[in-house]
This record gives sequence, structure tokens and C-alpha cells, in this order.
Amino acid sequence: MTTPKLRAELDGIPTYKPGRPPATAEDGTSGPAYKLSSNENPYPPLPGVLEAAAAAAASFNRYPDLSCGALSAELATRFDVPVGHIATGTGSVGVAQQLIQVTSGPGDEVIYAWRSFEAYPIITRISGARPVQVPLDAGETHDLDAMAAAITERTRLIFVCNPNNPTGTVVRRAALERFLAQVPPDVLVVLDEAYREFITDPEVPDGVDIYRDRPNVAVLRTFSKAYGLAGLRIGFAIAHEPVAEALRKTAVPFGVSQLAQDAAIASLRAEPALLERVAGLVTERARVARALADQGWTVPETQANFVWLRLGERTADFAGACERAGVTVRPFAGEGVRITVGETEANDILLRAAEEFRKEL
Ligand SMILES: Cc1ncc(COP(=O)(O)O)c(C=O)c1O
Repeated sequence: MTTPKLRAELDGIPTYKPGRPPATAEDGTSGPAYKLSSNENPYPPLPGVLEAAAAAAASFNRYPDLSCGALSAELATRFDVPVGHIATGTGSVGVAQQLIQVTSGPGDEVIYAWRSFEAYPIITRISGARPVQVPLDAGETHDLDAMAAAITERTRLIFVCNPNNPTGTVVRRAALERFLAQVPPDVLVVLDEAYREFITDPEVPDGVDIYRDRPNVAVLRTFSKAYGLAGLRIGFAIAHEPVAEALRKTAVPFGVSQLAQDAAIASLRAEPALLERVAGLVTERARVARALADQGWTVPETQANFVWLRLGERTADFAGACERAGVTVRPFAGEGVRITVGETEANDILLRAAEEFRKEL
């Protein structure tokens, strides 16, 4: 049967695998089951956010503000950047996809570390560009020298995921500045800082400081992680012109709902509560990482809200053992598992499961 012709670039693009939700028993009941597989925030919305979203819900017969004007103004003030440098989108993954769309097409190359955020290869190939994956170094960190060496005249965009998903490892200031000095000025470097709020290492630069005097650097941020708005789909880029303008041009009209816009503004205004929650998760992160190390696991130093265990062949078994114990983690077949830091009870279950698993090795 003849079917409509689709672009050849779509062939073989992997589908995005979301983290598994908590398991339900075969009899339909569910025990104490926690989701530690999607790097979500385990806390409910910040104070005032539900109210703002509920108020916005009363008008969802209307289209949202196309320009995300109030939110963009708030973000511009907060980061001390021109409002024209803000571009919002349907999650930071939506903005990342636009960044590729505005820079890269067939024949172009997009460089990123691997393993990193699993959407990078998908959105690169959707544009018809060629993914250039540069393996992480032995410490599970971006190998910036190898990434610089991979630049060709076809390179259009480079992602630096800081901290890196799924390893949690970071690129520090001196290394990043050295790397940026080697990138041609017509190649866009995207600092993907989805987990920025969880960073406590003072040597990790704030991407917004790095972007200020570098027209070829853009910063990606999201409300999905620390701010806990994953389900509302809102993220943004801070970028110089003409990049920011190109993002606004290519945005899906009305893609960001008014609920998301108003909830994001309310979240920004709830900073004290945000900082308290982030501090709690950072404390839990340290506890989980230390306990896993004490059990004998190799745990790369993480600055995000998750930890990484390179388990190789044992990845699927470990994920299965966690699930049976009541928590879902995110396995990357044959490589390792990413474990989100969740509520204390969930972390305790995870640690017990990891300890049991280790005993049986
Ligand atoms: C590194 C990184 N960037 C971007 C995103 C996308 O987040 P969102 O689209 O929810 O803003 C994620 C989500 O997992 C991520 O890990």
C-alpha cells in the first residue's frame, strides 16, 4: 500500500523512554511504591503555586499570552538580562529542539557528550543533522578536549550538560572557559543547566555569567526539576540575539499554557521555600551517595538530584531488584542506572535494595 512519504531522517530515530512509574502488583494493589526514575521533585508545588495555577485554570477557554510577557519580564529582572534574551518553551527539551532547528540541518553536526541527556540524539536527528557523540572520560565527566577536537566546519551546535544527566558530574569554570576559547564564534554552545539549582560546588560556573560576554553561548533552564513543575511543561533559554529571536520565531504558537506561565511566576516568587527544599534534597543526595559508597559501590560525585551507578551487565537485574523492593529507577541497558534522590522513605528503600543486591554479587 502506498503511504505518505515521510522524511528519510526519521528512520531509526530512537523513541524517548520515560522513567517507569511505580509498579502496581498483579492483583491491582500497590504497595509503598516510589518513582526514582525521572529526576522529578518529590515535593508538592511551592506555596502559592497551586493557587496561581487554579486561578489561571478559570480562563482556559482563552489562549495564553503568546509572548509569555509577564514571565519573561520576571526572568529578565531575576537574571539581570535584557528581556529580549529570554525565550520560553514547552519544557527546556522543547527549547533545545528549537535550538537545533534554528542552527542545524542536513549535513550539519551537533556535538554532545555521551552518555548524556537521551533527547539529544533524537532532536538532532529529527533536524536531519548528524549527532557527534563524544564519550565521557573515565571519571564519567565531559571530555572537553575530545569535544573540542571533534569540531569541524560542519559543527553548528554543541551541548554541554552541566551537571550531566545521567551521571551528575560537572564541568568546572576553568575547564569550561578553556573549552569555549577553542569554539569558533559561529558555533552555538548550549549550556544545559536543567539541574542548576542543585549545584553546591562553587567551582561550577553559573551559565548566565558565562553567557554574558559570549554571543555564541546560550543557557537552558527548566521549571521541571527543582521548581517541581515537570507536568506543566515550561522551560526557557537565555541567549543573545539573533539566537533568542530565532527561538521566538520558531516557537509553536501558544505552546506554553497560561497555567504554566502563572505557576512559573509564582514559583519564582517562592524562592525561600524553594531553597529550603533544594537544601533538603542536597542533604539527602549526600546521604544516599555516602551510603552507596559505604556499601562498596562506585558513585561518581554528583551535583544533581540523582546518582549514577555504572553496573554494566547487571543493570537490568539491579533495576528489577529495586522495583521489587518498591522503587523504580532508570536503567540504561548494559550501562548503568540513574537513581533520583526522592523522599527519605524512598531513598531508604533504595539503599536497602542496593545493599541486598550487593550481598548477592
Ligand atoms: C539535561 C536535561 N535537559 C533538559 C531536560 C528537559 O526537561 P524539561 O523539558 O522538563 O524542561 C531534562 C529532563 O530530564 C534534562 O535532564
